[in-house]
Amino acid sequence: MGNCGTREENAVVAAHAQLQQLHLLQHPVKNAVAERKHTRISSDMSDPSTPRKIEDAKNISIYNDVIDFTLFELETITKSFRADYVLGEGGFGTVYKGYIDENVRVGLKSLPVAVKVLNKDGHQGHREWLTEVRFLGQLRHPNLVKLIGYCCEDDHRLLVYEFMFRGSLENHLFRRTATPLPWATRMSIAFGAAKGLACLHNAERPIIYRDFKTSNILLDSDYTAKLSDFGLAKAGPEGDETHVSTRIMGTYGYAAPEYVMTGHLTARSDVYSFGVVLLELLTGRKSIDKSRPSREHSL
Ligand SMILES: Nc1ncnc2c1ncn2[C@@H]1O[C@H](COP(=O)(O)OP(=O)(O)OP(=O)(O)O)[C@@H](O)[C@H]1O
Ligand SMILES: [Mg+2]
Repeated sequence: MGNCGTREENAVVAAHAQLQQLHLLQHPVKNAVAERKHTRISSDMSDPSTPRKIEDAKNISIYNDVIDFTLFELETITKSFRADYVLGEGGFGTVYKGYIDENVRVGLKSLPVAVKVLNKDGHQGHREWLTEVRFLGQLRHPNLVKLIGYCCEDDHRLLVYEFMFRGSLENHLFRRTATPLPWATRMSIAFGAAKGLACLHNAERPIIYRDFKTSNILLDSDYTAKLSDFGLAKAGPEGDETHVSTRIMGTYGYAAPEYVMTGHLTARSDVYSFGVVLLELLTGRKSIDKSRPSREHSL
């Protein structure tokens, strides 16, 4: 533990045969939940460096300890995705609480988990899922949420993470009922999240996270900050390249203006988003808050 970077292992996502049977849609679909909470940015330019084809799933190399769950197993641990097991809802799907142990599968360590069920929105949902398995499945760091497993059955795409007891930083900062976080905790959260980001940027092949924001910073029982949600992560520029050209994706209020204007992505785009979160931690104000007078909408 503590290392960060990608490692080649022989394990291949076992479900790739099922993946090939899928019919994928051509274009990303906007999601109503994301529109409600944060406004997602999504341009429709093509993006050659993101896994596009279903066959790409065959080439995934992941850690051996990432578990290939069956849908039945995940239905069992979430009581068929019961409403009172919901932890939260984001732009790409709903997150449920669950618990894995020997009763689910012989040999499993007892562990509380969070199960994200990705929306069935064709190509985009699969793409986010695949990106997350590819990146997070190979990364281990105390400031990155651990991917315990995944499920890929028919058109179902699910991700299983370690359960983070204190939920998202967003809830602690902005939920009306939340007790204000002490300064020392705020600073240690900023430091932890920065270490998570630095681990991505310093990897052998740097990774750009692209979705740094308070809802993607999760807190463990001792307030250790861990980055979650790698669906938009992107391999960084190589060699002489100064940037990667991508379709513009992220969240308004956090995405760097020059990236939104040009589609040129660099690690500095993440650093901009880090600055926004730091400002939110210091002021207790949201990056975009439409409930304020119009000239104060943007932090
Ligand atoms: N591993 C986890 N442990 C505990 N709670 C989690 C975990 N992962 C997600 N959650 C909860 O589920 C909520 C929804 O997460 P999700 O990543 O789907 O959406 P989001 O980050 O809120 O929004 P967006 O889709 O714009 O990223 C989070 O805000 C958090 O409260
Ligand atoms: Mg998220």
